[in-house]
Amino acid sequence: MASVQTLSHVYPIGSRLDDHGRLQIGGCDVLELAERFGTPAYVVSEEDLRTRARAFLDGFRAAGHEDFEVVFASKAFPATAVMALFAKEGLGCDVASAGELHLALRAGFDPAKLVFHGNARDDAEFVAALDARVGYIVVDSGDDIDRLERLSAGLAAAPQPVLLRVAPGVSGHTHEKISTGQADSKFGVSLQEAPAALERLAALPGLDLQGLHFHLGSQLFTLETFRDGVAAIAPLGDFPVYDLGGGLGVAYTAEQEPPAIEDYVAALVEAAREQLGPGKRLLIEPGRALVANGGVTLYRVVGVKRNVSTWVAVDGGMSDNLRPMLYGARYEAQVADRFGGSTRVHLTGKHCESGDVLIRDALLDDPRVGDVIVVPVTGAYGHAMANNYNGVPRAPVIFVADGEARVVVRRETLDDLHARDVDG
Ligand code: LLP
Repeated sequence: MASVQTLSHVYPIGSRLDDHGRLQIGGCDVLELAERFGTPAYVVSEEDLRTRARAFLDGFRAAGHEDFEVVFASKAFPATAVMALFAKEGLGCDVASAGELHLALRAGFDPAKLVFHGNARDDAEFVAALDARVGYIVVDSGDDIDRLERLSAGLAAAPQPVLLRVAPGVSGHTHEKISTGQADSKFGVSLQEAPAALERLAALPGLDLQGLHFHLGSQLFTLETFRDGVAAIAPLGDFPVYDLGGGLGVAYTAEQEPPAIEDYVAALVEAAREQLGPGKRLLIEPGRALVANGGVTLYRVVGVKRNVSTWVAVDGGMSDNLRPMLYGARYEAQVADRFGGSTRVHLTGKHCESGDVLIRDALLDDPRVGDVIVVPVTGAYGHAMANNYNGVPRAPVIFVADGEARVVVRRETLDDLHARDVDG
């Protein structure tokens, strides 16, 4: 019975099943969206993105902390429309390459609200950031200091504010590929090296050393990890600015319960007040927690094969969502107009390798060719890591709000696949 089905918290805020058991997101019927825009498609609820952005901002205010910046880690969803939405909500933006910097400026962010990251930026990227007058450049290594010393020397403008990224020796309890805070990391300088690096930075006239940064890892569920990070960097000195990175985890499946955004912010504010002292300017850089749950992917079933298992093949896969293959990430799925069901299937993609399985042992309601399948929680690092494997054009991004849908990133065409060829 459709009316007894309820949606779990993994779906975008404002999603519902209508009287016929059909999924609606942002007031739009997803079967109609699949028909109108084709599949696969990323469907993103604007209300969801806005609500989460405001939860971060309100979290600081509720915790009584006024001097803060919520900086969207654009790598999680580097689409202009997403970035522009967050710019309008008053967020800053974390950019980790000249490309993301370019996108952020086009999306309308005030350069002063940009934080420039990376462990391997070349001269041209630093020059682009210096020319744009970004809010902060985050220094990742001694080689970065050499580069910035050279490149900032001739600048007529005021000194460039910088933060030093420290690997605080605290490992996020998460997949090893997305854990970054451990001592043996490619990111940041070690606690041992930090004092010498800070001394060098403070002495450079072209730079204005403002404080410290860490990013412990991604998809973190334990607030204690963040508290440990703050405690680890506290002895490095007293600075006006601390950027505590991103990493707050989200629920990919119904049984997962990550910390609420407000609780996470409150814990950081409290840890900062206790460990770093009052009145600090605090930055955080959420990516996933801003965009993951706002997005779903719609696929259409192309084939159903039964051998030892039941294999339900859809028209996308590792070209639109690499996360199951890279990190063993677990997702849920439903037939978009028949939630529930108990047919055990492997939901597979269309790519030419056996590893292209989106979900093993998904329970679906007897999926058939032509059904629309919805996979929730694909807003973060889905579009971001999409690729053209097997010559599959990348999927569009559709914004939905108040019953209206609009394409904000179009589907790639077959001609796009050879648009960069130079010899015919
Ligand atoms: N700040 C810095 C410096 C980062 O490197 C990252 C993510 C973030 C903030 C945002 O982290 P978040 O809040 O999204 O956890 N592709 C992987 C995630 C890689 C995260 C890289 N850095 C995935 O799909 O799980």
